[in-house]
Amino acid sequence: QIFGDRKNSLGLNMNIHSQADDFINAVHQYRDKQWQGGPIVNGDVVDAHHKVAIHSPQNTSHHIGTICWGDKALAEQALQSANAAYRRWRDTDVEVRASALEKLADLLEANRIELIALCSVEAGKSLQDGIDEVREAVDFCRYYAQQARELMGEGTTLPGPTGETNELFVQGRGTFICISPWNFPLAIFLGQVAAALVTGNCVIAKPAEQTGLIAFRAVQLALEAGIPGDVLHFMPGSGAEVGSFLVSQEEIGGVCFTGSTYTAQAINRALAARTGAIVPLIAETGGQNAMLIDSTALPEQAVTDIVASAFKSAGQRCSALRVLFVQDDIADRVIDLLKGAMAELKVGDPILHETDVGPVIDGVAKSNLEQHVNDISQAGRLIARAPMPEFTNGGTFVAPTAIEIDSINQLVKENFGPILHVIRYKTSELDTVIQSINDTGFGLTFGIHSRNETFAADIARRIDVGNVYINRNQIGAVVGVQPFGGRGMSGTGPKAGGPHYLTSFVTEKTRTNNI
Ligand code: SER
Repeated sequence: QIFGDRKNSLGLNMNIHSQADDFINAVHQYRDKQWQGGPIVNGDVVDAHHKVAIHSPQNTSHHIGTICWGDKALAEQALQSANAAYRRWRDTDVEVRASALEKLADLLEANRIELIALCSVEAGKSLQDGIDEVREAVDFCRYYAQQARELMGEGTTLPGPTGETNELFVQGRGTFICISPWNFPLAIFLGQVAAALVTGNCVIAKPAEQTGLIAFRAVQLALEAGIPGDVLHFMPGSGAEVGSFLVSQEEIGGVCFTGSTYTAQAINRALAARTGAIVPLIAETGGQNAMLIDSTALPEQAVTDIVASAFKSAGQRCSALRVLFVQDDIADRVIDLLKGAMAELKVGDPILHETDVGPVIDGVAKSNLEQHVNDISQAGRLIARAPMPEFTNGGTFVAPTAIEIDSINQLVKENFGPILHVIRYKTSELDTVIQSINDTGFGLTFGIHSRNETFAADIARRIDVGNVYINRNQIGAVVGVQPFGGRGMSGTGPKAGGPHYLTSFVTEKTRTNNI
C-alpha cells in the first residue's frame, strides 16, 4: 500500500503456508541465540558494572542474554554529550535527518527476522505481534520523516507592513529524554526516538527494564543508519535511578514517556520541581477501555472483535478492551458465544504459530493479575477462563478470563492483562453507563457494536476518549491512519502516528526583517 509518497511497511500473510513456514523456520534459527547489550554513549557500548540476566517470560529457565545497566554518572555523561551536540544537529538540514530515519526503516526491514525473534523471546510476543511490531516501527520512521520535511522545511511567510518580512520557523528544543514501555519494545521505543531526532533534538533513550535487548538492537541500527553517536545515547537502567535522575535535570529539552499513569504523574511532578527551562511532557498512558454492544449488533462479529480486543497480545496493549457493556436483550447470546470462543484460545509459547495468547511480561504482572481475578471473582461471576498449557516451564502465563460484574466502579485500577469484565445494561441505563465510563478519568479507546448508525455516532461523540472504533476491534492503530493517544489520565496528546505529533517536539521562532 502507498500512503501519499510514503510506502507502507512489508507485511507477511501467515495464512499462506509456504510464506509462513519459511518465516517460522527463519525465526526459530534465533531461538537459542545469546544476546548482549548495554548503554551506548557517544556511539560506544559501555561495559557497565551492573549486569542483568534476561530470561524469557514463556520459559523462565531460558536465559537469552545479558544487558548492562547504566547509572547516574553515565547518564550525566550522556546528557552533557547530547547537549553539546544539540545545536549542530538542530541546524543540520532536515533532509539529512529524515533520510537517516528512512535508512533506519530499511535496516529494520532487512533485520526483521532477528527483531521478531527477539520480540518473542524477550517480550513474549506472538509471531503475528512481532511482525506487526516491526511494521509499526518502520511506519513510524517513514511517517515522521515525511512529516518533518513538511513541518521543518521552509518557514511560513506571514503578512506584515511594507518594508518588513515576517517568517515563522520551528526548531528542536534540546535533549529529549525518551522513556518507553515493554509492551511495544521496538515500535514505541523507536517511535519516540524517531520523532525527537527528526525534529532536531538529541535523545537519551531509556528502555523498559524488561526489554533492553530489543531496544539495544534498535539503537545499533539507528547508529548504522547515520544518526551520530553524540546525538543518540542509550541508557538502560532502573527507572528509580536513571529515569528519575534524567527527568530531574535542568538541561533537558523535554520528556517523552509511555507507560503507567502513575509514573507519568511522577515525571510531571519531577519536571515541575526543577529549576531552569519549562519543558514539555508528552505522555501516553493506559486506559479503562470499554466497548458497548447494543441489541442491533451482530453477536458473531462482536465476539470476534471482543476476543481480539481483550486477549490479543495477552491483553497487554494500552488500547485493550477491559470492560464490555452489553445490552440486556443480547447479553446471553454474546456471553454464550464468548465462552465458546475462549474455549478455543490457545495459550502457550509465542514462538509457535498455533499460539493465540503468550505469557504476560513477568512474575510481578502475573501475580498482580491473578490477585485481581481472585478479588474481583468474590464480587463477580466467572464467565470463562481459557485453557492453560499443560507445560508452562515456569512461564508467566495468565489464562484469559471473563468475569461478569455489576459496575465499572468496582475496578479501582487498570488491569494490564487478559482479563475482561462484562456488565449488562438496560437501554434505560444508557446515560448512566456513559457517565460511568467518562467518570473513570481515563480516555484512551472505546468500541461500539451497533447497526444503528445514528446511535453509534451519538455514543462516539459523548464518550471522552482519543480513539473510537465502530463495528471492529479496538486495537492495532495504524500509523498515519488511526493516530493513537488519549486524554485525561490516558495521556497528554498529541497522538502518535498523527499529523500533529511532531509539533510537541519543536519550539517556534519568528524572524522579522526590516529590509
Ligand atoms: N497503538 C497500540 C494499539 O493501538 C497501543 O497499544 O493497539
